[in-house]
Amino acid sequence: MLAYTYISQNRFQLKDKPKPALADAKDAIVRVTLASVCTSDLHIKHGSVPRAVPGITVGHEMVGVVEEVGAAVKKVKPGDRVAVNVETFCGECFFCKHGYVNNCTDPNGGWALGCRIDGGQAEYVRVPQAEQGLNVIPDGVTDEQALFTGDLLATGFWAAKISEISEDDTVLIIGAGPTGICTLQCVFLKKPKKVIVCEKDAQRRAFVAKNYPWAAILPPEDLEKYIKTNCPSGGADRVIEVGGSDETFRMAWQYARPNAIVTIVALYDGAQTLPFPDMYGKNLTFKTGGVDGCDCDEILRLIAEKKLDTSNLITHTFALSEIDKAYELFENRKDGVIKVAIRP
Ligand SMILES: NC(=O)c1ccc[n+]([C@@H]2O[C@H](COP(=O)([O-])OP(=O)(O)OC[C@H]3O[C@@H](n4cnc5c(N)ncnc54)[C@H](O)[C@@H]3O)[C@@H](O)[C@H]2O)c1
Ligand SMILES: [Zn+2]
Ligand SMILES: [Zn+2]
Repeated sequence: MLAYTYISQNRFQLKDKPKPALADAKDAIVRVTLASVCTSDLHIKHGSVPRAVPGITVGHEMVGVVEEVGAAVKKVKPGDRVAVNVETFCGECFFCKHGYVNNCTDPNGGWALGCRIDGGQAEYVRVPQAEQGLNVIPDGVTDEQALFTGDLLATGFWAAKISEISEDDTVLIIGAGPTGICTLQCVFLKKPKKVIVCEKDAQRRAFVAKNYPWAAILPPEDLEKYIKTNCPSGGADRVIEVGGSDETFRMAWQYARPNAIVTIVALYDGAQTLPFPDMYGKNLTFKTGGVDGCDCDEILRLIAEKKLDTSNLITHTFALSEIDKAYELFENRKDGVIKVAIRP
């Protein structure tokens, strides 16, 4: 089968590999019907994910049809349409029992698919711990609607949840890339009083203005004035940082009101500094981390109820045989791309 493979730094290649087989009673084999390319795949390509193992098939966001299951898998059966979770988790260890599945102690726990073990930019994928790692897609939900369930929507849902948003809150989201927009949709479900989105790219601002007119959308240079005029307590009640640069990190604590919650979803290429003397008296609570992606059944239910719909983020679709072109477009942010989908 065709599988997009991490060869070495800056080199991914479409290779012919054997179709995966069950290796454990808790495994399932899924025939991939739609996969995506994620910013994290680019991090692997650029060599900034030291855990990534050369030779593995990349891709960690996909939907498909169950082909085969191990003897211990009861939740799904061959023929079921499923969304695959970016995280592998056992459901039984200390962390899983508390919902902190990103830190599952299973040898494959956390982000393994498409990083440490073969992933889904391929015709088939082996999913370990399939009872937890697969979620059945409800009837009437398309592959395009379900595609981001296991990674970006799981992230947005988790970020909105840990930010403890109430209906009195003004929420500031920094960065309207695909993850920021998924976060925006999940924040909206919490019915906050006001949502402000800050994004530096004009095309992405236009996308937010068109699709989510209930949110205020601003370039970074206008944010300070807007916050001064619109936030009587001196900043947003909740800030969710989904930008990933030194500047967006600084903005996250700067535009938070005293006693706010600041949730850092973004990953950075380097360390960030909190200048405590400047922040003295702000009494902020910071929340950070890798997504705990354990709410995927609820996310799929919300998609079926039309409360979440991220299919419009797929601006381009390529055949698996043309995946090099998909990466080239996504990596260079050409042609107004937000997300690319890959159809094996
Ligand atoms: N914590 C997790 O588990 C998790 C999961 C998924 C993604 N992420 C991280 O979330 C971040 C966003 O992911 P993405 O796929 O949306 O990436 P992206 O690069 O497409 O999005 C970042 C957005 O921030 C904007 N931006 C950059 N600097 C800005 C500034 N100064 N002011 C306003 N906007 C600015 C960019 O224009 C871009 O649209 C990445 O760092 C990614 O690694 C984390
Ligand atoms: Zn990802
Ligand atoms: Zn576990």
